[in-house]
Amino acid sequence: MQYLIVKHSHMLFVAITVLLFNLRFWLRAAKPEKPLSKILKIIPHFNDTLLLFTGLWLMKITRFTPFGNADWLGVKLLLLLAYIGFGMMTVRAAPRTGRAWAGYALSMLCVAAMVYLARYKPF
Ligand code: HEM
Repeated sequence: MQYLIVKHSHMLFVAITVLLFNLRFWLRAAKPEKPLSKILKIIPHFNDTLLLFTGLWLMKITRFTPFGNADWLGVKLLLLLAYIGFGMMTVRAAPRTGRAWAGYALSMLCVAAMVYLARYKPF
């Protein structure tokens, strides 16, 4: 019961992080001259903290350990570092530049791979 609540909260925070990242990216791509509202810069930090917190909580409940009994989780956490790096690259790049598009595409690829690993646990 507790597991299901934490897992579904975790998945909700995953959906919100992807949504907010896309909102920020596409708003900047559509109107490069318009600065993003402050709230759109602050909320992602709250959400990402909750995402991390529920992830750690799930590790405690499931006893999955990265590169211990769950290699998929180890790779997923490495991809998380890559997601953060590419996300920073995207946010710092000027809109509509090659750097911004590449950062965006690579960030989305990382998230997709993380969802795949968590869902199917291929190794
Ligand atoms: C962008 C970051 C993240 C994404 C996209 C993501 C994605 C997901 C998804 C989609 C699930 C549900 C899998 C299912 O269908 O059963 C899940 C479960 C899980 N996640 Fe994450 N997650 C992220 C961050 C984290 C972090 C930071 C941790 C650990 C510190 C973590 C640890 C876990 C664990 C232990 C599970 C439970 C797996 C299970 O019970 O089957 N996740 N994650």
